[in-house]
Amino acid sequence: MRRIVVTGAGSGIGLAVARRAHDLGWTVAGIDRTLGAGHIADVTDAAQVSSAMDAITSSWGGAPDALVHCAGIYRVAPTVTVDPADWDHTMSVNARGTFLAAQAVAARMIAAGNPGSIVVLGSVGAGRGDLTEPGAAYAASKGAVSALVRQLAVEWGPAGIRVNSVVPGVIDTAMTTVTSNPDAANALLGRLPLGRLGTADEVAAACLFLAGSDSSYITGTEITVDGGYLAS
Ligand SMILES: NC(=O)c1ccc[n+]([C@@H]2O[C@H](COP(=O)([O-])OP(=O)(O)OC[C@H]3O[C@@H](n4cnc5c(N)ncnc54)[C@H](O)[C@@H]3O)[C@@H](O)[C@H]2O)c1
Repeated sequence: MRRIVVTGAGSGIGLAVARRAHDLGWTVAGIDRTLGAGHIADVTDAAQVSSAMDAITSSWGGAPDALVHCAGIYRVAPTVTVDPADWDHTMSVNARGTFLAAQAVAARMIAAGNPGSIVVLGSVGAGRGDLTEPGAAYAASKGAVSALVRQLAVEWGPAGIRVNSVVPGVIDTAMTTVTSNPDAANALLGRLPLGRLGTADEVAAACLFLAGSDSSYITGTEITVDGGYLAS
């Protein structure tokens, strides 16, 4: 039986990953800070992450085979006005949260002798500045995720654990704010080679490719799902 933990499972990409995984025959456990995703935990809180993982592994009677970590937040503001507390919060949810979720799952995989696959969510914001929607802390937090993937892949590869990221472009979820500004939305669509936003399910498909055995020789890298955004 293939068992997968999905964080951020209450909305958007995480919800699409949980649904698609279920349809593909995975046994799925969701984690989110809100009700409705299975297990409630704030990914910035080590004790909450650990106790959610303990509850999941004890209900399964074993460690997960995969993690897809989708919990994250997006904040937009001109950098000269950013409150340092907002910077810290964004870094905490997106960078520390990724570290805590990956650490909690890898520790359980190693202890159980059940190595698997860890997939985290980066962003095109780490690869390209954005004048329309400035998000310095968000970009920096996703740059941290990108570096973390390479480090964890090297550290945990000898134990058989693969670590990769999916790097979405602009995806049509609750997180996406550009659609509320018609000028910005039109400018964005004009530079997207595929001429449309992505869907959560298109990102979920890449996440589950990396989570499963079809990607068994892929680690320490990323799959960009951006409709050509970074190429244009
Ligand atoms: N939507 C996009 O265009 C886009 C683009 C690039 C990257 N991403 C990344 O994809 C991931 C998922 O984004 P989405 O579009 O599905 O967003 P979303 O807002 O629809 O879902 C994010 C989920 O994370 C949960 N979450 C937030 N903070 C949390 C915390 N502290 N603890 C636990 N759960 C928490 C939320 O409750 C929510 O259910 C994020 O990492 C995001 O940065 C999204």
